[in-house]
This record gives sequence, C-alpha cells and structure tokens, in this order.
Amino acid sequence: ALIESFAPTLIAWQREHGRHDLPWQQSRDAYRVWLSEIMLQQTQVSTVIPYYTRFLERFPTIEALAGAPSDEVMSLWAGLGYYSRARNLHRCAQVVVEAYGGHFPRTVEALSSLPGIGRSTAAAIAAFSFGAREAILDGNVKRVLARVFGIDGFPGEKRVENAMWTLAQTLLPAHGDADIDAYTQGLMDLGATLCTRGRPDCARCAFTPHCVAYATGRQRELPVARPR
Ligand code: ADE
Repeated sequence: ALIESFAPTLIAWQREHGRHDLPWQQSRDAYRVWLSEIMLQQTQVSTVIPYYTRFLERFPTIEALAGAPSDEVMSLWAGLGYYSRARNLHRCAQVVVEAYGGHFPRTVEALSSLPGIGRSTAAAIAAFSFGAREAILDGNVKRVLARVFGIDGFPGEKRVENAMWTLAQTLLPAHGDADIDAYTQGLMDLGATLCTRGRPDCARCAFTPHCVAYATGRQRELPVARPR
C-alpha cells in the first residue's frame, strides 16, 4: 500500500510544505535547470543562490557561457568548491552549443552522456525541464528511501544502489500523472528539510506512520554507513 500511496503523499506534502520560491523553480528552461542542478550537486541551497544569480547575470544564455574564457568561468565559480564541476560545466555548454544547436537533449541517456551530468542529474533535468517521468537518486533520496523502506546495506555498494534505483522507479507517480516536478522537488525537499542526516524531524513527516526506520527506532542507523 505504501508503494502506491508514496507519490500522492509526497506530492501533497510538497504542495503544502515544500520549497516553491527557489530561483531556479521560476523557469523550466533547461539551461537554468541544468545550471542549478550542477551547482546543487555538492552544495547547499543557501550557498548556491548568490552564485546562481551572478552566473545568469553574466551568462544569460548557454551561448554566452560556451563562448566565455575559462578563467572567467572559474573565477565566477570561486568559493563553490569541487572545481571539476566548473570545468565540466563550461565543456558541457560548448558541447550543447556545438552538437545540439544550444538546446539540451531531452532524454536521460543523451543528457547523462554530457560532461558533469550523471544519471540522477540527467533525470532531474529531464523531469524539471521536459516533464519526463524519470527517477532521481542522489544522496538525500537514498537517505529517505533507506529509512522509509528500511533498506539495509551501504548505498555506495552497487547491489544496494541498484535496488534503490529499482525502488525509485517503482515509486514514481502513475503514468499520465502531470506531477513529476512536484514529486521530484518533494523528494529533494523532504531529504533536505525533514529527513536530514543528523536529527530527522519525524514529528512533521508525512511518512512517519509508514516509516520502517521510525517504527524500529533506526533513524540514526539508516542509511547504513560505509563499512570499514
Ligand atoms: N538539490 C539538488 N537539486 C535541487 C533542487 N532542484 N532544489 C533543491 N535542492 C536541490
């Protein structure tokens, strides 16, 4: 029953309690969605916002970014960390301009072959920009799934990760349901605001009545830490 009710419960929670005013939520433009998702890969929302705004001011189009000198891209990125993201960002912009006429491809397969775009980021771009029914699985989502469904095993292990991808696909809103962006944002927001690593706020969570970790008091033990 939880499998079928997961998406509608999450979408209702997102509408009521999720984040709706983030700068990159104001547009379905793939360039803006992509830029925000790359910046958000290892960096929290409050840090990303001023960088995102400055980047768009300086590079309002993907053509502007593709044509910029590398040192200018790198200096605008300075302070965000994980600098390979900035090098891949610049290369990705050049590939999209040169190989796709400045338009991001619409499939997860083509998106994930671009520099700096892994499977989960490709799915987020496809969902937010093109309304594609695709599953995401980043660190926050792994934590939510491990807890709600009581998944034992280190999520960095391929076997566990594959099982999580399968579950994430099973949980997607039904075909024909138009709510993939609320659903995807809801997963991100639940992991970032309630189902946090340190002290999850189970009292406010829509899944607490169904949550395996809550029922067994294992919120702090799930997801399982890297074995050592
Ligand atoms: N983390 C990764 N993608 C995000 C998004 N679109 N909104 C908020 N946090 C995120």
